[in-house]
Amino acid sequence: MSSSTLSLSSHLLSLNATTRHHHHHHHQHRRIRHRIVTLPLKTKATMGKEPITTTATASSPAGAAAESESAAAHAEFKLVGFKNFIRTNPKSDHFPVHRFHHVEFWCGDAINTAKRFSWGLGMPLVAKSDLSTGNSAHASYLLRSGQLNFVFTAPYSPSISISSSAAIPSFSFPVHRSFTSSHGLAVRAVAIQVESAFSAYSASVSRGAKPISPPILLSDNKTAIAEVHLYGDSVLRFVSCGDDGTGFLPGFEPVDNEMSYQELDYGIRRLDHAVGNVPELGPVVNYLKEFTGFHEFAEFTAEDVGTAESGLNSVVLANNNENVLFPLNEPVYGTKRKSQIQTYLEHNEGSGVQHLALVSEDIFRTLREMRKRSGIGGFEFMPSPPPTYYKNLKSRAGDVLTDEQIQECEKLGILVDRDDQGTLLQIFTKPVGDRPTIFIEIIQRIGCMLKDEEGTLYQKGGCGGFGKGNFSELFKSIEEYEKMLEAKHVTETAAT
Ligand SMILES: [Fe+2]
Repeated sequence: MSSSTLSLSSHLLSLNATTRHHHHHHHQHRRIRHRIVTLPLKTKATMGKEPITTTATASSPAGAAAESESAAAHAEFKLVGFKNFIRTNPKSDHFPVHRFHHVEFWCGDAINTAKRFSWGLGMPLVAKSDLSTGNSAHASYLLRSGQLNFVFTAPYSPSISISSSAAIPSFSFPVHRSFTSSHGLAVRAVAIQVESAFSAYSASVSRGAKPISPPILLSDNKTAIAEVHLYGDSVLRFVSCGDDGTGFLPGFEPVDNEMSYQELDYGIRRLDHAVGNVPELGPVVNYLKEFTGFHEFAEFTAEDVGTAESGLNSVVLANNNENVLFPLNEPVYGTKRKSQIQTYLEHNEGSGVQHLALVSEDIFRTLREMRKRSGIGGFEFMPSPPPTYYKNLKSRAGDVLTDEQIQECEKLGILVDRDDQGTLLQIFTKPVGDRPTIFIEIIQRIGCMLKDEEGTLYQKGGCGGFGKGNFSELFKSIEEYEKMLEAKHVTETAAT
């Protein structure tokens, strides 16, 4: 009796951990602004205007100030919940946004971190800017798979550093040092490719964006970068360049074959969304919407999920093309278990990027390759759902996935969700660094194929949603699994 109970409860525990890692949102239903749903759970916004006491604001006073000023100026933001949300695209961007350009991680040692991500994600190291290229300010390494660019940056000693040699001109030794000591391994910059970094910056700053780094034309006389505050200590970086984005930044040089295995490829192709955790959604959503013009693409509240398991509210902001997606999460309080968002905010010492969702062109292949390397330098994954989850999957997605594909999902621990338009296959790694903060999501979206003006097929952004349905689906399958084990136990006990 006791051993059976033990294994059951420990299984449940690990699965609850999985469930809690599924954030996320959606859309599709009716958005009626005057029918506001009152949140049953406490958030920073509903708890009244007591002074904000999280470490978020303590560690980044300037960012917090910008966020609360924005909140005062634009108090109209209210969560309406999934059921009252109508998806519309007002195409309200204040400046032309093409796509995600790159993500820059700040870390203590760039080459080691870069090589770990390279091996774990199947992204070859393609370019460098470091002492060997004449950069004495920072060591930066670029990983690339398809359109996905990850940059890892660490400082050199300020005693030998010539700041004008920095390939990324916004680099600052003291800012980097305080960033890494506060956050550990974390995302410093989410970069988007814009028509012009100059006009994106001036449009943003004139609408309240907090300036971080004014536009600078780089040495090739065509690439420009600029930065404004995003949330916490992270920045939104604008990059404009003469090419189609296949180059990178001047100052980066290709690496040789000894340094990198260029054929490394597990099928990852681009960044789908970059999610931020913040103590309170309202001020951050208002701040970002105001200066970018991005629209609300999807949202959900803890109430939508049907249980308090999620411990979060979520909103997704999107550009006109809906290929740049910025989901944001806030914790909800008063649930049985502490919100995973609150845990993040404590360990990260404030707001920051929670996860990066990477699109695979073949999630089964990507997962086979990644799982092979979990124990040998790669990334580990959150615990897989119980068999009951995959039994139910046939009725949930049997029209989209074959029996073989459902079996493959089960083998690899892939979760499946869908919305009114498409299907989402998703899986989450465990946090990638020391702290229980940033992690990676691998996704593949199925459906929503459209044709552009030239007749080229493309997939509509956010097709299949972000995995909101998996909160309740995991909860349900765990309950069913528990009952199944209980019944089995009763039968076995009766037989002996
Ligand atoms: Fe996600």
